[in-house]
Parts: sequence; structure tokens; C-alpha cells
Amino acid sequence: MKILLLGSGGREHAIAWKLIQSPYCEKLFIAPGNAGTKMLGENVQINLSDFQTIKNTVIENKIDMVVVGPEDYLVAGIHDYFLGDNYLQNIPVIGPKKDGAMLEGSKEFAKKFMINNKIPTASYQSFTIENMEEGLQYIKQQKLPIVLKADGLAGGKGVVISTTYEDAERELIEMLQGTKFGKASSKVVIEEYLHGIEISIFVLTDGINYKILPTAKDYKRIDDGDNGLNTGGMGAVSPVPFADEVFINKVEERIIIPTIEGLKKDGIDYKGFIFIGLMNVDGNPYVIEYNVRMGDPETEVVVPRIKSDLVELFTAVANRKLDEFDLQIDEKAAATVMLVSGGYPSTYKTGFPISGIENIKESLVFHAGTTSSKETGEVVTSGGRVLAVTSFGENIKEAVAKSYESIKKIEFSGMHYRKDIGKDLFND
Ligand code: AMP
Ligand code: GLY
Repeated sequence: MKILLLGSGGREHAIAWKLIQSPYCEKLFIAPGNAGTKMLGENVQINLSDFQTIKNTVIENKIDMVVVGPEDYLVAGIHDYFLGDNYLQNIPVIGPKKDGAMLEGSKEFAKKFMINNKIPTASYQSFTIENMEEGLQYIKQQKLPIVLKADGLAGGKGVVISTTYEDAERELIEMLQGTKFGKASSKVVIEEYLHGIEISIFVLTDGINYKILPTAKDYKRIDDGDNGLNTGGMGAVSPVPFADEVFINKVEERIIIPTIEGLKKDGIDYKGFIFIGLMNVDGNPYVIEYNVRMGDPETEVVVPRIKSDLVELFTAVANRKLDEFDLQIDEKAAATVMLVSGGYPSTYKTGFPISGIENIKESLVFHAGTTSSKETGEVVTSGGRVLAVTSFGENIKEAVAKSYESIKKIEFSGMHYRKDIGKDLFND
């Protein structure tokens, strides 16, 4: 089978690494990919926003399946485009159509979906510029802190948590007037702040059946102790110790089943990943957000723990046969630590050579923001998040320690990473 994987991050390198281990994967193409995926398949430099060029790539290379990494193309309707095209309609796409992608594409859509399906989530109301005054009044009636969310996609940055009413009011005005997140915040969801520990739950569904993948926790802030600016994620661990059978059963009964049933009831035929960001509030799960893709860097710990063949798993999704699939998960724990460019998530420089990756034997190094230098061919930095260093262990503490050992061998100018990944979850 020839497979085309869309995306260029650590998530895509981890998925590519797993796909090519399958005897069913004859050839892998990654668009646009990075210096890591280049070692596993053929990187194709195309503009993914132009679906016609994706179509050309699929036809030229006789692609049999398309796996979509990031949300943007799903929200923009890549799956619908395939279904509406005579040449492409029988080529399976792993990732939901536009209607299902709305779970991530619109926070308000997601909130309404949860309320309609009695899925536990923070209470909320949404506002536009037309009823901004009501929004300002609403803020005054809420407890602090208060959460404001841009309705549309804002590159993972559309959430503001305010600790004073003045701040929340100012933020609402800026968001609705479009000075903060542009069109993405022309509608704003204001919601109750949930106190607890976050966890990422991943579900793969074929529209009828589903499989729950390993749990993970990511670390979003740039600095140790969860300080500093929000990032795409600085590291992750799997499994999450507090997510025991009792907790996961609650998640399945209160959230996963109503989500799958709710999609069916609404006529949304969803084939792909559902990433549920949850808050564990005193042992009870509440949904913070849905994403319609895998998490990054969670994928770098979740995918390596999947023992089953990933091509077979995706084929079961395409053929609506997930109920017949025996998903095998590795008992070992996994941890990943992100190495990022100095200055990220604000401004940073790129183009720095990376050394030492080839000396790492005890860990997997997934590339995120890397490219091969046009002049020298060496691997250089090309983004904020540069590499994810993943290790296995008997428990997450051991896995994290192994990644930190491996990181000592890697160098690039300005390299930064958190030293406390997983620490909040160790019990000593
Ligand atoms: P999101 O972009 O939706 O992932 O939100 C970014 C982060 O804001 C989340 O990972 C949480 O840490 C935090 N957050 C979002 N909504 C809430 C909420 N209702 N209560 C507490 N924290 C929240
Ligand atoms: N790590 C969080 C995300 O992928 O959205």
C-alpha cells in the first residue's frame, strides 16, 4: 500500500516511524515532512492548502490511503474534497470530514454538542460584537478566574485565562474587535474555570466502533514548574498514573460513548482520531476541548506504545471494522522531552546545525522543526519545537530519566528544554 501522510511535525515523524514498520506499507510519502521523515519515506514539497496539488500527488504516485496529521486541512474540508472527486472518492482518508472537524473548528459548536449530549463540561455562554455589552455583564457575574476562548482556530493560542474582571473585560473587547486573534475571535466562548489536573484521551473511531488509545499528559508552559508562556507542548508522558480503570470507565461512559453516539445521531460520519482534553476534577472528568487529530507531543509517546500494526489499524477504520481489531498496547511507559529553539514561543532564529542525534541509542528522536540544509545537507533547525526525545521505561520516571540522559548528547545553538517533565506525577 502507498500512503500519503500530511504534516511536518514531531507527530507526523512518529506516525511515519510506525507506518513504515508495517509490511503493508510499500512506500510512504510525507507532505511536506521534515528532515526526520525524509529518512523514512519521500518528502513531497506541495502547498497543502491547494487541494488540487494534493490530488495530483495522489494520482501521480498511485496513493492508496491518506493520513491527515494537523487539523487545518480537516477543518478546510480535505476529506470532503476526496469524497466529492471521481478519482479520489474511493481512497480512504484518516481524519473527519468538515462536519466532524467542527468539534475543533468551532468552540461554540463543541460546547453545544456537549450540552446536547449531556457530556460534562464547564458552563459557558458565547458572545459576538453585537451583544458585547451582555458579555461584559456576564463576566461580572462569574467567579474568578474566568476563561475566554476564541471560537475559531487560532493556532492553539486562542485561550485566555483572566484572574481579574478588568483583565477579562479588556480581553473580551480586544477579542471581539478582532485586534487579538483576527476573525477567529469574532465569536468568544466565556466559560467557567475548572480546577484539576489535565489529561489527554485519544480515541480512534470508524464512525460506529471505537478504540481507546493510551492516555497521555502534556506540559504546555515553556518553563519548569508550569511557568511562562503557553507553547504547543514541551513534553509528554504515557500512561497517566491517576487514569486508573475507575477513572477511564467514567471517561468512557460519560464522555466517549455519548460523543460517538452524538456524532451518529447528528448524522456526522466520523473516521479518525478524537483527542479529548479533559480536566480531572476530584476524580470526575470534564471536557475542556475536542481536537480532531492526534496531539503533539502526545503522539510521540502514544504511538510508540501501540504494538499493533498501524496500517492494519487505519485499514480497519477505513473499512468500518474496528470492532474486529485486536488493539495491543505496550505495558511499558513512555516519555518525551521537546528540545526547542531559544526564544520560542516568541521570536527565535532558525538554521542552526544540530549535532549528536546519531549517537543516541537508548531513545527515539522524532524531528519536529528540522530541515536538511540546502547548502550542506546537514540537519538544521527550522522551527520553534525542534526535536522530541522519546524513551521507554518500566514507569514514567524511568522513561523520563532516559530521555534526559540522551539529551546530553544533542546540541544546537540556543537549545532549551524543560527539566521537569512528568515530575508532578512521580510518587516520590
Ligand atoms: P485549549 O487551547 O482549549 O487547549 O486551552 C488551553 C489551555 O487552557 C488548556 O490546556 C487548559 O490548561 C486551559 N483551559 C482551557 N479551558 C479551561 C477551563 N475551562 N478551566 C481551566 N483551564 C482551562
Ligand atoms: N499537545 C496539545 C495539542 O496537540 O493540542
